[in-house]
Amino acid sequence: MKKFNRLEIKKICCIGAGYVGGPTMVVFADKCPLINFYVVDINKEKINAWNNEDLTKLPVYEPGLDNLVKKCRGKNLFFSTDIEKNIATSDIVFISVNTPTKTKGIGAGKASNLMYVEECARQVAKHAKNHTIVVEKSTLPVRTAEVIKTILQEAQNNRDNKHNMPTFDVLSNPEFLSEGSAIKDLNEPDRVLIGGESEEAIDLLSKIYKNWVPKERILHTNIWSSELAKLTANAFLAQRISSINSIAALCESTGADIREVSRAIGSDKRIGSKFLDSGPGFGGSCFKKDILNLVYLSNHFGLPEVADFWEGVVEMNNWHQHRISKLIVQKLFGTISEKKIVILGFAFKANTNDTRESAAIQICRDLLEEGAELIIHDPIVDKGQIQLNLDNDKTLTERDKNHENNYEYQGSWNFTNQLNTVFDDAHAVVILTEWEEYSDLNWISISKKMQKPAWIFDSRLIVDTKKVLEANLKLWRIGDGT
Ligand code: UDX
Ligand code: ADP
Repeated sequence: MKKFNRLEIKKICCIGAGYVGGPTMVVFADKCPLINFYVVDINKEKINAWNNEDLTKLPVYEPGLDNLVKKCRGKNLFFSTDIEKNIATSDIVFISVNTPTKTKGIGAGKASNLMYVEECARQVAKHAKNHTIVVEKSTLPVRTAEVIKTILQEAQNNRDNKHNMPTFDVLSNPEFLSEGSAIKDLNEPDRVLIGGESEEAIDLLSKIYKNWVPKERILHTNIWSSELAKLTANAFLAQRISSINSIAALCESTGADIREVSRAIGSDKRIGSKFLDSGPGFGGSCFKKDILNLVYLSNHFGLPEVADFWEGVVEMNNWHQHRISKLIVQKLFGTISEKKIVILGFAFKANTNDTRESAAIQICRDLLEEGAELIIHDPIVDKGQIQLNLDNDKTLTERDKNHENNYEYQGSWNFTNQLNTVFDDAHAVVILTEWEEYSDLNWISISKKMQKPAWIFDSRLIVDTKKVLEANLKLWRIGDGT
């Protein structure tokens, strides 16, 4: 018997209106005008923001996103808090909720907390009416599909009314978009991965993607390969960054230049040139979380050597961030107490308002511990978000875990989104995010405002060395031993 009432997908619901669910559904809606997309979330404020007439107030900042929202919203794209109704009337339900690293219990600090995913699966089980394809889109530990399947199955067994019970297929369709270029990544994906058992369900999802993705880029795998591929892709990318950052430290000691080393190794086709930019250490919601998931899995399956290998990538990243803070203190004569330091950029990379795991968090905290007076600038991230990260986030380091309440630093911080006044009386400027506007600052005029000797710390290699030095400023650049 055919499980599907119709072979046409008319309505898709996505649970989770965050950095993944939001942009993904916006692009789907743009590419598939005949399907209606409902993005639902428990967070009412977020849904209101997605519905805001003022497109600068969307909860996710992504180049190109506002135009697409304008084009599709109210036509075939809707944002709603009515989760039940939209599950009940959809042919496909994407689960795109957050899966933070567990902070307590078994696997604390490594395993992902599947609480939200589980809750979604229960909601789908309860409210679905017809055959529903459930697609996992969140970054999840391997074998999560099994958890979702079990919940759906159990809920069916427990339904009072066994007539007209919905049936389910579970697919894994991991997202590979990178924040800051999400729209481009979604429009032109290198590959789309669909893992699952049901040929029919896989074909239906593939058919949607075929509206804009060439069919040879749509890969079908078994469900576990799909889940593991997502974790592994992120682990490999993060590993490249830890590798290049480790060599940057060596460059600084030996007189080599990391950009020359990157170019030289990147021209080897076997290595490739992407993801070889040394920086302040990787951030973002995925890399650390996914590697720690791999570590947890490897230990769980009795492979401690594999676990240690991957954990090293995260350890190198932590070490690297602390190395930068220490170096700033050293250059400023061993003390930064009450010294004004300008932080340029708080987002974990340019072109996003996301600060999750941003290197800026750890580096600012280190400097605050040392008593610095920070003035933080970011063109898009707002003060409230920085406050959450610096004053309230209890998940960062072992030492930090002991703080139950807000932090008490020796130093203090302030925020501004005005660049013209930020440099007055500063001892140092630290560039942490590669926002374009930081690459052509007027160093001569900045230098006049700063206290001497004044330092520029460029962790993104974006300033013009000559111009900085000509402005009578001292310069440290990551990986530059020349
Ligand atoms: C990543 C993956 O790229 C994406 O495929 C996955 O779906 C989610 O995780 P994202 O975290 O959004 O995407 O951004 P990404 O561009 O990968 O950057 C991650 C971090 O690495 C940033 O902090 C970035 O500044 C840093 N980075 C990246 C470097 O330091 N050097 C590089 O060469 C590239
Ligand atoms: P990601 O980067 O993975 O998209 P975000 O934190 O940006 O993560 O977004 C995840 C979204 O999922 C949040 O807006 C959160 O409110 C939402 N969410 C979590 N659990 C549920 C749930 N049970 N039902 C609906 N939405 C949920």
